Amino acid sequence: MFDGKEYSGFYTQEQARELVAYAAARHITIIPEIEIPGHAMAAISAYPEISCKGEKIGAACTWGVFEDVMCSKEETFRFLEGVLDEICDIFPSEYIHIGGDECPSVRWRDCDICQANIKRLGLKDETQLQGYFTRRVETYLQSKGRKIIGWDEILEKGVEKTATILSWQGEMGGTAAAKQGNDAIMVPSAYLYFNFYQGVAETEPLAIGGYSPLRKVYLYDPVPKELTKEQAKHIKGMQACTWTEYITNEKSLEYSDFPRMSALSERAWSNENVRDYDDFVSRLNHMLDCYDRMNINYSTSHFAVTADLSKKKDKIQISLSSPLKDGPIYYTLDGSVPKPSNNASKYSKPITIKQNTTLKAFAFNSERRCSPVLTATYKINKATGKTYIQSNINPQYTGGTKYALTDGLVGDKKSYDRWVGTLGKDYDVTLDLENTTDINYISINFLDEEGSWIFLPKNVKAYVSDNNKDWTEIPASEFVKSPVENNPKVVNYKSSCKKLKEKKWRFVRIFAESIGNCPDNHPGRGYGAHTFADEIEIN
Ligand code: ACM
Ligand code: ZN
Repeated sequence: MFDGKEYSGFYTQEQARELVAYAAARHITIIPEIEIPGHAMAAISAYPEISCKGEKIGAACTWGVFEDVMCSKEETFRFLEGVLDEICDIFPSEYIHIGGDECPSVRWRDCDICQANIKRLGLKDETQLQGYFTRRVETYLQSKGRKIIGWDEILEKGVEKTATILSWQGEMGGTAAAKQGNDAIMVPSAYLYFNFYQGVAETEPLAIGGYSPLRKVYLYDPVPKELTKEQAKHIKGMQACTWTEYITNEKSLEYSDFPRMSALSERAWSNENVRDYDDFVSRLNHMLDCYDRMNINYSTSHFAVTADLSKKKDKIQISLSSPLKDGPIYYTLDGSVPKPSNNASKYSKPITIKQNTTLKAFAFNSERRCSPVLTATYKINKATGKTYIQSNINPQYTGGTKYALTDGLVGDKKSYDRWVGTLGKDYDVTLDLENTTDINYISINFLDEEGSWIFLPKNVKAYVSDNNKDWTEIPASEFVKSPVENNPKVVNYKSSCKKLKEKKWRFVRIFAESIGNCPDNHPGRGYGAHTFADEIEIN
């Protein structure tokens, strides 16, 4: 949990059997997941003898990745065999999910037993020790006629061909699995984590930072293009995850899952030619009626008004559109809630904005469908609406639009939809201000969310030019770093260097040096660190 409130609960074996039967009566198989060897703080706090240190530790009181994991001693395997015996007895599924994700190896490095096992088994390192864990558990489950599923980490840590890989860290795991002959299920988090935001963060209940709106779920293609026909047969399908760290009750769970669950079902169970999102949304109205009758608290975020910034000559214009095609859009520009009955204007043509503005907009239609109210706070400056070129962008975090960095909307820590990201690489962007102009300062924000493997750059510097050829460097030492007001995870880098004022400039290049991989004291050690940049401001 994230709010310090106590939570607890468990299913008795009898209740679990009841669930299995309830699902089976509806032709659904429940596959249980038992996390091995990491993500197991509850088990370790109750049975400290299965950890390396063997000391009593408390259960985790926040969510995250923890260094205390299961030890490779025999006692652990005896414990796991007991657990799996009971699990197999309750769950008749062909597959058992054994976790395998986010397992730091710090404890193993300091543990005599684990180090002795690495030597005895001729393993190269702690990475291979996790492979040993996976194989032991797989062999045991095979003896009971079951197969294993595990998160994509188990692939790189060593698996047999018989394991099925759940590709959650993007598509790489599933692609690699299919290429080497393992079955895979696609669940890339950026598309299929239903605990991510499904609309702009300002209008949504608190969620985990990512962004997976209905359209993105519906259009996700689970078969990576680079696979041959033969390899593609290993892609068994797709799944969604709804992790409940920010979900405290059933209604909020329904909000996360509906209607994205309908999009997932149609995508997973249709052939690849069924890809017309607008058609899906129009057919979805029937499902919404069904949800209404079932009293399901579904989200209407897919009806949200979209505000697109564009430039016409020197004018910054905002165009509004809504999937509620036959209904009007109402908006205000003074921050007040738009209501047709009082202050709001009915949208008819692009809105020109000249100064900092808070736009609110909503739409409704003749079938009484309503969008949520969109709030967009524009900070207008010399960079707003200007085009740029950038390198090394992570295709999962592109910022969404061509103006992501210059759309006047400042990225917020709540949601990642507006951030432009690189993974393990430097971020490099060059902006064209279209005319030479006075520059007093250059500023850019980066996100600092280490729990999600997003790190501030090592340093930020800039270059300015009036001809796109000769560049004047604004060194890193000239950038002042400070947290953004009311948004402390967002860090602003700003330079008012004297060199900026020496003449007028047209081109601004910003270079942010990535830390490369996550640092040694971080659970992501050895993996690429994300760098997230948003909104460049120049005045
Ligand atoms: C995961 O989200 N750690 C599978
Ligand atoms: Zn150990």
